[in-house]
Amino acid sequence: GLAQAYIISEQFIGDDSVCLVLGDNIFHGHGLAETLQEAAARTEGATVFGYYVTDPERYGVVEFNADGQAISIEEKPRQPKSNLAIPGLYVFSGDVVDIAKGLKPGPRGELEITDVQSAYFESGTLSMERMGRGIAWLDTGTPESLLEASQFIHAIEKRQGMKIACLEEISVHEGFVSAEQALKNLELLPSGPYRNYCEQAIREHK
Ligand code: G1P
Repeated sequence: GLAQAYIISEQFIGDDSVCLVLGDNIFHGHGLAETLQEAAARTEGATVFGYYVTDPERYGVVEFNADGQAISIEEKPRQPKSNLAIPGLYVFSGDVVDIAKGLKPGPRGELEITDVQSAYFESGTLSMERMGRGIAWLDTGTPESLLEASQFIHAIEKRQGMKIACLEEISVHEGFVSAEQALKNLELLPSGPYRNYCEQAIREHK
């Protein structure tokens, strides 16, 4: 199960907080980077998100009381108590490794990520934030949903002439890598439209 990821990567995590993004979950939208930077800056507790969907029974689901406070978290409930699904993007403090080690497999025989969330919730250290309409959360776990996500990304990239999640461009933009070094790294890429885009984006940044 997903929670096992934290046990497997214990050495890598150490005492740091850690962000896990499921490989079949794609996020894109306004304010997403800032939201994630805020979550990553917290040194204690956990941050998960709530996203309105029409088919919450396929996901972890959060229930809120009348005051807007989260009161329960359930994994794939047959009768969901709300429409707020929890996307596969979690920011947890370093003690997640101990929490994961203490879990017992749930009804489907897996160490459930929702049980990790419940542990933070019960200790009063879970932040639950709504991901609003400005953010697209796409699932790419089936051939059809992968095609739909590709079409969505393609339409935006084509219209704006900018790539989404171009790591070479982002690394320079965020100051992780100098423009000079990034251009040098690009020499390792085969020539073609992706390399051309990166070169132009990095030169324009300079
Ligand atoms: C997993 C999690 C679930 C979460 C979902 C997001 O489900 O267990 O809580 O809402 O990812 O995609 P699974 O990948 O097992 O269907």
